[in-house]
Amino acid sequence: MLLKTVLLLTLVAQVLVLENGLLRTPPMGWLAWERFRCNIDCDEDPKNCISERLFMEMADLMAQDGWRDLGYVYLNIDDCWIGERDDRGRLVPDSKRFPHGITFLADYAHSLGLKLGIYADMGNLTCMGFPGTTLDKVELDAQTFAEWKVDMLKLDGCFSTRQERIEGYPKMSAALNATGRSIAFSCSWPAYEGGLPPEVNYTLLANICNLWRNFDDIQDSWRSVLFILDWFVKHQDILQPVAGPGHWNDPDMLLIGNFGLSYEQARAQMALWTVLAAPLFMSTDLRTISPQNVNILQNPLMIKINQDPLGIQGRMILKEKSLIQVFKRPLSGDTNVVVFFSRRTDMPFRYHSSLAKLNFSSSRIYEHYNSQEMETIQMPLVEECLKKMWYICPVPPSMISLFAVLVTYSQW
Ligand code: GLA
Repeated sequence: MLLKTVLLLTLVAQVLVLENGLLRTPPMGWLAWERFRCNIDCDEDPKNCISERLFMEMADLMAQDGWRDLGYVYLNIDDCWIGERDDRGRLVPDSKRFPHGITFLADYAHSLGLKLGIYADMGNLTCMGFPGTTLDKVELDAQTFAEWKVDMLKLDGCFSTRQERIEGYPKMSAALNATGRSIAFSCSWPAYEGGLPPEVNYTLLANICNLWRNFDDIQDSWRSVLFILDWFVKHQDILQPVAGPGHWNDPDMLLIGNFGLSYEQARAQMALWTVLAAPLFMSTDLRTISPQNVNILQNPLMIKINQDPLGIQGRMILKEKSLIQVFKRPLSGDTNVVVFFSRRTDMPFRYHSSLAKLNFSSSRIYEHYNSQEMETIQMPLVEECLKKMWYICPVPPSMISLFAVLVTYSQW
């Protein structure tokens, strides 16, 4: 009996652990949904509809315009690619919009040094009403994606019951493992359970998924960014410890390059997602994005920090009455990044702080990197006398993040 139990536990453990070794740092790439939604009208709008043409054009630009070389390697399809299930029950892409099939697209992405991600839904239908992955189809769909040489799966949760999700997400994780192909697994499961324990078991999630959507969909507005940010901060005691190499919280896509954010707000989203160790999935039209927005998304310092190998998610450490919020993320090499984020809506604000207040020892020497100019500028911030109060000024006008990295002198 004891032996049986031990065997059973070992079996369960094997099934539950996602042993793919992937995403040791947060994934970076391009995801279709926020910008291109479920536009399937290729007659009226051939350039922007969800089709192989759109993904191939984005792939070309990711390779040509420096994105891939900076780490943006995942080219991810979202909802609305499916046509039907064939008579063997296998998923088939819409034949008009994806005439060459998904393997063709995966080969194309791979030929450019990119990876291809795909979308499915653990339920009767996808959120936009296309065929879903019911429990009996989990293994078949995992095999299909592996045969297509797909590199990431986002598994959504529309049109499912709680029980189906409880069974389905671990089942898909095991099925992906069983294919033998390395497929990163993005789970929307927690977002369908309110994002918090006891409904959400983050220990289990970290074992079966590489990343997970905790909360609501991002929309193209600053309001939406703040809504998501505030939820993450409110629950940071729960969320912060569960992130780490191979398993990340996902506050959803970057809006940078679209219609809803000002330049300053776009910089703020980049800085905040960076300090939160969030996946960096752009969802924008790379054919028309402005140089300014390219600079934000391609900021080498932000990317280096986001991709720090320690993989510790940052936290809000101070919320001032002045509406300045301070975030801090520990990085490798005894380094920390600090983000000063102004929630003010009046004018540039002179924010005074001190090393002690930010929990830094005054016995070391610090350097400050300012990404204000979108370049890595090194400038001394802290006076020779480290006990002296120092200030960052001004935190520029409303809703802007000034971004500082405090680094011990000899490293980084
Ligand atoms: C849900 C997800 C979104 C997107 C849509 C597609 O709302 O949370 O990210 O995938 O479905 O229909």
